[in-house]
Amino acid sequence: MTARRIDGKAAAAELRARVGGLAAFFRASTGRPAALATVLVGEDPASEVYIRSKRSGCSEAGMESLHHALPAETSEADLLALVASLNADPAVDGILVQLPLPPHMDAARVIAAIDPDKDVDGFHVVNAGRLAVGDPAALVPCTPLGCLHLLKAELGDLSGKHAVVIGRSNIVGKPMAMLLLAESCTVTIAHSRTHDLPALAREADILVAAVGRPEMVRGDWVKPGATVIDVGINRVAGTEPGKTRLVGDVAFAEAAEVAAAITPVPGGVGPMTIAMLLRNTLVAAHRRAG
Ligand code: GUN
Repeated sequence: MTARRIDGKAAAAELRARVGGLAAFFRASTGRPAALATVLVGEDPASEVYIRSKRSGCSEAGMESLHHALPAETSEADLLALVASLNADPAVDGILVQLPLPPHMDAARVIAAIDPDKDVDGFHVVNAGRLAVGDPAALVPCTPLGCLHLLKAELGDLSGKHAVVIGRSNIVGKPMAMLLLAESCTVTIAHSRTHDLPALAREADILVAAVGRPEMVRGDWVKPGATVIDVGINRVAGTEPGKTRLVGDVAFAEAAEVAAAITPVPGGVGPMTIAMLLRNTLVAAHRRAG
């Protein structure tokens, strides 16, 4: 391996400590803690794990975590009524409705009901629009924000670099492209229909993989000296029977022979997501407090 391994765990710990300091200042100056309301509908085990990490992240940073667990058979009207009450609650700064929602609910309608200034996931169309036009009021999705933080720590000024983002989701690919464009990168968004993806990827100074396909990006897709950000978290069969392991969207060992720097999975982008959620909650709290 020749590439530098980008330590997302250390970067996230540093960010969380900084957010903790600012959260203490917020509490001292306003007389109340910054507060994140989380909503989980049903009992999806993976969602329960995510919610637990988000809640403990809040507590560790000195922020309040207000949780609402609703049964899977809750009606969409009842969920919308809860969102409306959280929008109106002055003690709530951020609202996060954990996805996926049960099939009888329309996630887009639920997200659209969240006050954009409390939308700490950055999923509301108002925040997507603010990001697209460069409005600093945008609350930006946490995963791409975490990727940008790692890239700037690694490279400093990103201007003029060719960034290739593989993946066009509303949650990662598109906002990632917008953030890189705002940093004056030349940005290409690639996806499953892109012609000769390996050749395009090889032109990237910055390569971001966010497709959810285990180890799709091979070593010969990477330009020598590139910085590689792997957003994928895929569970695959391990070498021992019955065991599984986590891999990214990038074949790490191969890519690390060619790249200058690369994020591992786990321990790269993943830890940054919750750190950025805490940051977004604090930003929302400060803006609401004026
Ligand atoms: N489900 C998986 N990741 C996320 C996330 O970042 N936010 C929400 N709301 N749901 C998710």
